[in-house]
Amino acid sequence: MTRFLVLTVLALLAAACSREHAHETPAEQAIEYRHSLYHVISWNVHAMNDMVEQKASFDSSKFARNAERVAYLVPMLPEGFTPDSYLAGKTDAKPEIWKNREDFDAKLKKFATDSAALAELAKNSTLEQLTPAFKELKGDCKSCHDKYRAED
Ligand code: HEC
Repeated sequence: MTRFLVLTVLALLAAACSREHAHETPAEQAIEYRHSLYHVISWNVHAMNDMVEQKASFDSSKFARNAERVAYLVPMLPEGFTPDSYLAGKTDAKPEIWKNREDFDAKLKKFATDSAALAELAKNSTLEQLTPAFKELKGDCKSCHDKYRAED
């Protein structure tokens, strides 16, 4: 029985893996990679946001864990914006990113610095002390999206 289960799981995994990457170009893989990161970042930012807006009660260890995850993930974003990864219709990344690469990279760098600062602060702070650093981080989302992300 156990052996059967193991074999079934392995077969399912193999099928999932081969289907997933069967017809993807490197550009599509890069788009999928950055989308995945943004989704996980977003999940954790929303959880912190609920605490900041007092829709959820403040749990300092949960907040610290969310902040730490974001700080860990953000530095992985730059490699997802590969030079050839602008495909109309499949990405909301504007071509302006590649025209103003230095400015875009500076925004990603600020995002990384701000997320690291929040994670450090979150180790030992009250919600009141954390709020300005959290707002700074949220400001990074908007300031980059306004310029470099196409409207849905
Ligand atoms: C330096 C620029 C930049 C910053 C900072 C940034 N984003 Fe984005 N974000 C983008 C771009 C560009 C896209 C479009 C990516 C694509 O479609 O390929 C995007 C897309 C997304 C998506 C949609 C992903 C998808 O599957 O379509 C989510 C969710 C997201 N960002 C959340 C956030 C949150 C939350 C923050 C702040 C905590 C943030 N982003 C900060 C540039 C940024």
